[in-house]
Amino acid sequence: MKIKVAISTAILGLLVLSSSLSIATSSPDNIFLDKNARFHPVISQLGMVVSQEAIASQVGADILEAGGNAIDAAVATGFALAVTLPRAGNLGGGGFMLVYLADKNKTIAIDYREMAPMGANKDMFLDPQGKVDNQKARFSAQSSGVPGTVGGLLYALDEYGSLSIEEVIKPAIKLASQGFMINHDLSDSLHLSSKRLHSHKASKRYFYKENGDNYLPGDVFIQSDLSQTLSRIAEQGRSGFYAGKTADLIVSQMKRSNGLITLKDLANYRVVERQPVCGSYRQHRLCAMPPPSSGGIHLIQMLNILENFDLKKMGHNSSAYIHHLVEAMRSSYADRSLYLGDPDFTPVPVNQLIDKAYAKTLSEQINSQHARISKDVYPGLDKWISSEVTESEETTHFSVWDKQGNIVTNTYTLNFAYGNGIAVEGAGFLLNNEMDDFSAKPGSANGYGLIGGAANAIQPKKRPLSSMTPTILFNSHNKPVLATGSPGGSTIITIALQMILNSTDFNMGIAEATAMPRIHHQWLPDAVYYENGISPDTLKNLKSLGHHVSSKPRVLGSTQSISRKGNNLAGSADPRRQGASAIPQKTK
Ligand code: GLY
Repeated sequence: MKIKVAISTAILGLLVLSSSLSIATSSPDNIFLDKNARFHPVISQLGMVVSQEAIASQVGADILEAGGNAIDAAVATGFALAVTLPRAGNLGGGGFMLVYLADKNKTIAIDYREMAPMGANKDMFLDPQGKVDNQKARFSAQSSGVPGTVGGLLYALDEYGSLSIEEVIKPAIKLASQGFMINHDLSDSLHLSSKRLHSHKASKRYFYKENGDNYLPGDVFIQSDLSQTLSRIAEQGRSGFYAGKTADLIVSQMKRSNGLITLKDLANYRVVERQPVCGSYRQHRLCAMPPPSSGGIHLIQMLNILENFDLKKMGHNSSAYIHHLVEAMRSSYADRSLYLGDPDFTPVPVNQLIDKAYAKTLSEQINSQHARISKDVYPGLDKWISSEVTESEETTHFSVWDKQGNIVTNTYTLNFAYGNGIAVEGAGFLLNNEMDDFSAKPGSANGYGLIGGAANAIQPKKRPLSSMTPTILFNSHNKPVLATGSPGGSTIITIALQMILNSTDFNMGIAEATAMPRIHHQWLPDAVYYENGISPDTLKNLKSLGHHVSSKPRVLGSTQSISRKGNNLAGSADPRRQGASAIPQKTK
């Protein structure tokens, strides 16, 4: 039974002001104010919302203040990001939500990943020569799976929220109809994607000025068609998207652009509530997303492997430490290529993959003096395609923690920035290109350079394999202490791994754990990727161990995390990308 709470929505003009007042909830002698830390989190003794975009974080924090729970705030943040962060926040994509219910001490996983349309088939992205047509797989209307976001957010609200749909969508409708001020991040991002978005009439009209010019920081950005779509969802719930006018608009767009999604595909879209995949690391326990995400399994598998080594003794980000991480990543991503797929279509050996004894055998294959060659770690496929990893920046993660102790940690996406670039004419939102996360041909690489096998082949109604890894870490008393997750395509799982190692083995506060330079390896391509801040000496040592270190540094992910110690929440919005913000709930 929902408790209706009247929400004051006279917030938008006060957003910047109210976020600067948020310090009022900080405690001066807070345990998080570690004198040795170079980076400090935002503190709250109430609730907290951390997302990639400040207005959306504030929307969630206001919902908490109005009496909503973490699920209400997460759903409101999810809808707001669809307006304020159009490159990744979405109605036309899909994702995964992990919910911790404090009163039941229970974690559940909500799968709202896109589903392949009925018209899809395993060879749909192959050209007449049998080669993968990447343009078709990534940028055509056929690259869109049936969107899951609206179904997923409404499912979460219906099952675990306390407010009405109208209440949680109202801020997003207002942001779309009255507009919000474009910041540097959005202006830059639209500028960078202008070539692709200009090639579709509706996308050009929605995201650029009438004369085609880019919006500049300070311009007000109004999205009238999107506000109408959001209003239909507020009024009709799921049917406001998967049936009626919105569904008709999606199908008309499909017909115009030669896409596959039909009214029946939309009507048949299903959210699935799943058991999270859970494991332990030293004295901690953790739960993360199960298949069709590979995230939880491989996060736990890598931790299981690394548990066999004294990482602390090696020293954080030393060459010995990075070497062992890379070798664990290599084994894990090799398994990912063979065993992982949609569990509703292909049996995934979850328990075997997260088995501690199996991890021990993998750990014994690691030589502390030599890097292995990826080809020797998994020789199952005879032809390797080692394309560069072209990380999409544009999945997005947010975390919410309420004062009752409920937690939501959510990652959702259009896949690439602005998905396939095709907006639904009349509906104001972009479509995903998630079909590229299927394996278009066994052994070929997707947009992240990830290799997949038959388990992840395209089939009607199947969900493509993902790397998204919303994660909750528990202490030895089984109390949640960390909620985290990141965008970053194939790098998401290794980023979550490093957040956990930083927080556990190295006892870092959440802001410090977030800011530390990261590394990544994914078996193929056989390369160690690294961020600025890993020293040249360390890179030299890694090379002398036999690692192929990438030629230049890159930026890895953008975590949005909350940790808890005692009664205090500490939020950390990743400084790697502009615009992210941790906003504490202001008052009770
Ligand atoms: N589209 C990125 C992922 O699902 O991992």
